[in-house]
Amino acid sequence: MNLIRFATTALCLASFAFGCKKADEPAAGPAKTRIGYIVKDATGEWFRNEIRFAKEAAAKDGFEIVEMGATDGGAVMNALDSVANKGCQATVLCSPDVKLGPAIVRACQEKNLKLITVDDQLVGADGNPLVSVPHLGISANEIGKLVGTSLYDEAVKRGWKLEETGLLALTHEQLPTAVARVEGAIAGLTSKGFAAARIFKVAQPEQSIASANNAAETVLQKHPEIKHWLICGMNDDAVLGGVRRFEKDLAATDIIGIGINGDAAALAEFTAAKPTGFFGSIQLEARKHGEDTARLAFKWVKDGVAPPPLTLTVGRLMTRDNFHTVRKELGLE
Ligand code: GLA
Repeated sequence: MNLIRFATTALCLASFAFGCKKADEPAAGPAKTRIGYIVKDATGEWFRNEIRFAKEAAAKDGFEIVEMGATDGGAVMNALDSVANKGCQATVLCSPDVKLGPAIVRACQEKNLKLITVDDQLVGADGNPLVSVPHLGISANEIGKLVGTSLYDEAVKRGWKLEETGLLALTHEQLPTAVARVEGAIAGLTSKGFAAARIFKVAQPEQSIASANNAAETVLQKHPEIKHWLICGMNDDAVLGGVRRFEKDLAATDIIGIGINGDAAALAEFTAAKPTGFFGSIQLEARKHGEDTARLAFKWVKDGVAPPPLTLTVGRLMTRDNFHTVRKELGLE
């Protein structure tokens, strides 16, 4: 009896040991190629959309997205570690601080992580774009110009006297794409003959609605002589912040704000029962940003095909009159 039990136990142990013997098998890696997707604002709608479209592309093409949020420099370095540890050989990145460029590039080289930036292009120590890192972003100056000329056209359509009309330009100097957008809007407006003397620039220190709201307050208090206001800024949040502050003191019909992105918050303005001061938004190609960056990174890892150094996307003006059509045409509805 004891002998039989011993034999059975020995047999079990042997088969267990045999079953576990994987020493000569390759180390287990992820079954599918993994691509990191690190963004500065993981809950922000623009970035949720980008990640959603990146994941859709991954599901179609048979790779995986490892998404992470990083709101400051330390978090970016941790996120790069994390995606590398999870087996990613490439990552897409929108950094919370573009000046971290050289440190980010060094970290990626150490980890053998291929890097593509999206939306916010990294800069070097000299403040110039790091052109060695493939980038996909918006044609910021052109899109800004479209904001400026559209603001002008709508003011004229409303029959506003230009000498009673001012521009609130919400700036965010830390981010080159934000600077280019606002400078573009100013250029678009002045190209139509709008007086530079009635352009009021104010900095929003943070990239948030609240920060833009506070910044707008100071301009509004200083310029009671202005009857009608045009508002531009780096994105929908900036313009929404400005519009909401101005609507406290002025009729919505005396405000024309045009944002950039085509966020849900912008769409909510277009479907509000009465028109608000938020007149329009430049709808960007969110699908292209998410899908293309993910696919470019995947192709780079899988086939060794390096992405184009620079891809710039376009935008289209969307108002309460045409937003469904524009979004359908861009594959967003
Ligand atoms: C920046 C902005 C976003 C969005 C993207 C588009 O990252 O913060 O809101 O406008 O650019 O590229």
